[in-house]
Amino acid sequence: MENQKLKISFPKVDSANQGSGEYFFIEKNGKKEKVTFHEYDKIYSIPGLYEGLFYDKLKCNSPAVVGGLINKYYQKNNLDTSDLNILDIGAGNGIMGEELKNIGVNSITGLDIIEEAESSAMRDRPDVYTEYYTADLLDLSDPHEVALTNAKFNGMTIVAALGFDDIPAQAFAAGYNYVSSPGLFAFNIKEDFIAKKDHTGFSKLINDMVDEDILDIKEKHRYQHRLCQDGTPLYYYAIVAEKKDDIPDKMLEQFA
Ligand SMILES: C[S@@+](CC[C@H](N)C(=O)[O-])C[C@H]1O[C@@H](n2cnc3c(N)ncnc32)[C@H](O)[C@@H]1O
Repeated sequence: MENQKLKISFPKVDSANQGSGEYFFIEKNGKKEKVTFHEYDKIYSIPGLYEGLFYDKLKCNSPAVVGGLINKYYQKNNLDTSDLNILDIGAGNGIMGEELKNIGVNSITGLDIIEEAESSAMRDRPDVYTEYYTADLLDLSDPHEVALTNAKFNGMTIVAALGFDDIPAQAFAAGYNYVSSPGLFAFNIKEDFIAKKDHTGFSKLINDMVDEDILDIKEKHRYQHRLCQDGTPLYYYAIVAEKKDDIPDKMLEQFA
């Protein structure tokens, strides 16, 4: 990866600006540009910026935590990670894919909605993914649909891409239903989004999936996902679960 000194700075804000409102400044050619944390196209287009912002400045370590939890679960249960063919959704420039490769996963397919993710993954981590698709799971082309069906995934990961206006519930469900049962589903999610008392969005869906025996949570670990731009820690759960069945359309009606 190109090694350039990136000048990243943060505005003075209060913690009300956590989550989707966060932004930073990047200095390029003597000029400061404001970029929000969700402008992934801009972030991926500068080599090293994604890592410099989220991993160096904001101390994110989620791919390593989720990868470590999968490895721990597989070792504890005498399972072999080399049996896994994983669909990594919201793959970005490949940091989670790299962790999966490091723990011995057989094949990893990346999928992301923006084409800058695929191009930066090919630029930064060309040896990680067997395939990488730039696709919207809710509007797949016929060739992508055939490819995802034929891939016969037995595992799926979504890291740092659930909640905060990233992958919507219907897209998550579409991806989930491309994975066989039994299958692995490993992900991370902000602690509030999975609390029983929160009846919005993913919390409700995940809790319904558990209640309906569609998902069986095997490992759950609370940890510091990263710092917010104001320095406050953001806590997430890393979860390793077994997919037991597809998500029925009826369960998604609440999101329509
Ligand atoms: C914070 S990045 C995480 C990247 C990577 N998983 C990691 O851990 O470094 C979130 C990614 O989710 C992608 N994303 C957002 N909405 C999506 C959707 N509906 N389908 C697929 N990817 C999506 C974004 O383009 C972005 O690359």
